Amino acid sequence: MKPLFKGKHFITLEDWKTEEIEKLLEVSADLKEKFKNNEITDYLKNKTSFLMFFEQSTRTRNSMEAGIAQLGGHANFLDTSTMQISHGETGKDTAIILSSYGHGIAARNCFWRQGNKFLREMADNASVPVMNLQCDLYHPMQGLADLMTIKEVKKKTENVKVSIIWAYATSHKKPISVPLTQALLFPRFGMEVVLAHPKGYELPEWVLEKARKNAEENGGTFKVTNDMEEAYKDADIVIPKNWGSWVSNQSDDVIDDILESNKHWKCTEKMMALAKPDANYMHALPADRGNEVEDSVIDGKQSIVYQEAENRLHTAKAVMAMTMGDK
Ligand code: CP
Repeated sequence: MKPLFKGKHFITLEDWKTEEIEKLLEVSADLKEKFKNNEITDYLKNKTSFLMFFEQSTRTRNSMEAGIAQLGGHANFLDTSTMQISHGETGKDTAIILSSYGHGIAARNCFWRQGNKFLREMADNASVPVMNLQCDLYHPMQGLADLMTIKEVKKKTENVKVSIIWAYATSHKKPISVPLTQALLFPRFGMEVVLAHPKGYELPEWVLEKARKNAEENGGTFKVTNDMEEAYKDADIVIPKNWGSWVSNQSDDVIDDILESNKHWKCTEKMMALAKPDANYMHALPADRGNEVEDSVIDGKQSIVYQEAENRLHTAKAVMAMTMGDK
C-alpha cells in the first residue's frame, strides 16, 4: 500500500480534500475486509506512534492501539498526567522530542479553547504526522468512521437527510467536537443536514457559515432549527447526542437550569416514528442511556451504533497507514 499522505497532519477533515477523504474511506474498506479474512497488513512494521490522552477514552484509545498493532507497529499509550506536560512542558518541546523517537503522534485534548491550539502547536513543530484524537473543536477520527458507516448502510450520501440533534445528558459536559465535525463534513458529501438544538447550545457562527458554504459547493443542504420534531421528520439518519453549552457558557458545571429545562430532548420510539421507516440511529458513544436515548432505540433494529464503533478501527488504521507508512 502506498502511503499517499505521508507526513500529512490529521487535525481536521477541513484540511483534507474530498478526494483524499474518499481515498481514506477506500483504504478503510480494504482494511476492514482484510481484517475479516485474517490477512496480514503490516504496512507499519517497526513503526511507533505515541498516543497522548488528557481525557478518558474507550473507542479512540483501543482502535488506535489495536490498529497499529494490526499494522505491524507499536503504540505507546501516554496518560498526560504522568508526563512532564503536567509540570508545564510545552507542546513544542514534546512534539520535537517524540518525533525523534517514532513515526506519529496522536493526542486527545478537549479543554475548551486549549485543545485545538495544543494540537496545532505540536503539528507546527513535529517532523512526523500529528493526529487529532478529539479536541475542543474537532473529532476527525469519529467523523471519518461516521461517513464510512453512512455510506455502507445507505449505499450513497447524496440527498440523504441526516439530522444532528442535541440530546439531554448528565454524565459530563461534553465537547462540541462531534456535532461540529459532522456539520462541516456531511454537507461536503451532498447530504441534507439538519442541526437541531435548544437555545443555548449553539455551535460557533463560523461553523454554521462554513457548513452552509460546504453544502452550496457540493450539492448538499445545511439547516439549523430549534425544533426537535422537524429534525426527526422524514430523516434517513438521526444522530441525537449531547454536547455542552461551551459557546455561550464556559463553566465546567455539568448541570444547570438550561440543561434541566431540556430533558425532553431525548431520542424515543415516538421521535423515531417521525423519521423514515428505514431510518437509522447513530451515536459516537458512550451514550447516556435513559437520558439521551431510550434503550429500546439504541438496542433496536434501527440502531447502527456498533457498526459505527467498529468502523473506528478500520478508519484509524487507514489514517495511520496512509500518513505514517514508508514510500
Ligand atoms: N466516540 C469516542 O470518541 O469514544 P471514546 O471517548 O471512548 O474514545
